[in-house]
Amino acid sequence: MLSERMQGALNEQINAELYSSYLYLAMSSHFSSANLAGMASWMRVQVQEELFHAIKMYDFVNERGGRAMMKAISQPPGAWDSALAVFEAGLDHERKVTGLINNLVDVAIAERDHATSIFLQWFVTEQVEEEANASGIVSKLRMIGHDASSLFALDQELGQRVFVMPATPTA
Ligand code: FEO
Repeated sequence: MLSERMQGALNEQINAELYSSYLYLAMSSHFSSANLAGMASWMRVQVQEELFHAIKMYDFVNERGGRAMMKAISQPPGAWDSALAVFEAGLDHERKVTGLINNLVDVAIAERDHATSIFLQWFVTEQVEEEANASGIVSKLRMIGHDASSLFALDQELGQRVFVMPATPTA
């Protein structure tokens, strides 16, 4: 059974993951309108990843006899100055999410909720990959600068990304 405090904190994170998917959907729309179809597609995969994170946490709350609550999702920004600005905002966001996950682990430890602490380790590991993905693209975009042909090549490369359902959806 989840404590009230733990349940509240997990519900906040479900909302944060849903906001993440909403933010990346806004970024995908931005890239579509900028004719960067590969980056738009990359962001669509990211939307699926974030929805997966939200549902994974939702399932865990229910599995532990808690109640997942749907709260209002904030409006994300709608436009950015450049492809680099979009991915920088994505990297900033992922760093914030890493902080939120770390805070959740702190709550689980304070509540002596070992099951939740173990469950959250998947998210701790996932955040390493999330930050590395965004950081790698930011680095490439900084190298590219205003070189349109390199930007086009990176757009093609990012368009190859596909969503892969993780092997353990609820554990
Ligand atoms: Fe759900 Fe991008 O972390």
